Amino acid sequence: MKKLIAGNWKMNGSLAANEVLLTELAQGLTSQPSCDVAVCVPAPYLAQVQALKAAQAALSCVEVGAQDVSAHASGAYTGELGAGMLKDLGCCYVIVGHSERRQYHGETDLLVAEKAKAALAAGVTPIVCIGETLTEREAGRTEEVVKRQLAAVIHGNGHCISEIVLAYEPVWAIGTGKTASPEEAQAVHAVLRAQLKAATDQSARVKILYGGSMNAVNAASLLAQPDIDGGLIGGASLKAQDFLKIIAAAQV
Ligand code: PGA
Repeated sequence: MKKLIAGNWKMNGSLAANEVLLTELAQGLTSQPSCDVAVCVPAPYLAQVQALKAAQAALSCVEVGAQDVSAHASGAYTGELGAGMLKDLGCCYVIVGHSERRQYHGETDLLVAEKAKAALAAGVTPIVCIGETLTEREAGRTEEVVKRQLAAVIHGNGHCISEIVLAYEPVWAIGTGKTASPEEAQAVHAVLRAQLKAATDQSARVKILYGGSMNAVNAASLLAQPDIDGGLIGGASLKAQDFLKIIAAAQV
């Protein structure tokens, strides 16, 4: 399966900085990568990023994504972003259920499942994030936690589950410089793959990304694992050269 390298800029960037980053990225993308590439950018910059993409042919292979979406289609939900609006702005992807949203905004498994459903209904692919905390891992609960998180999304999305992208992001590895070893990550990915297989006969289509301090140095060994179909990259996606190296590591 074609791998997907998706950058998660989080709440970083500015009009000036985004232009520099994307121009450097364009300069480095000298040939069409054999993996899929995306950048999930702060919503206020979606239009700018689309314009920069339109202006630089080398960026035509880079899909644009958002970082959150409302579970509602439209209405009196001040400050929320509807999936249809993201579609209007050319978003191909939207991250849902990132651990920072679960942790700081109280997002539950149920809400994450509803957000994934709203995205799918609008034709935007949700990148659904799941992952255990350090306390949960140390208590030997990793499998139980990720299975519960995925089960909610499967339950809420029925046969459409094969349309999602899943991202396993151990919370203790996000932004900490600590990465799950390729074997640790693969073990969880295999569990998730089996759970998807039990839910749909289309499970082979579902990309399972790894996220959590993936960088230019460790990307190749993580991406070499049989059930790791790409990466969701935070910090390293803000440095063009690092992001380009990760894209290069994902070439098949
Ligand atoms: P990180 O973030 O690569 O900076 O650890 C990954 C993410 O939160 O998606």
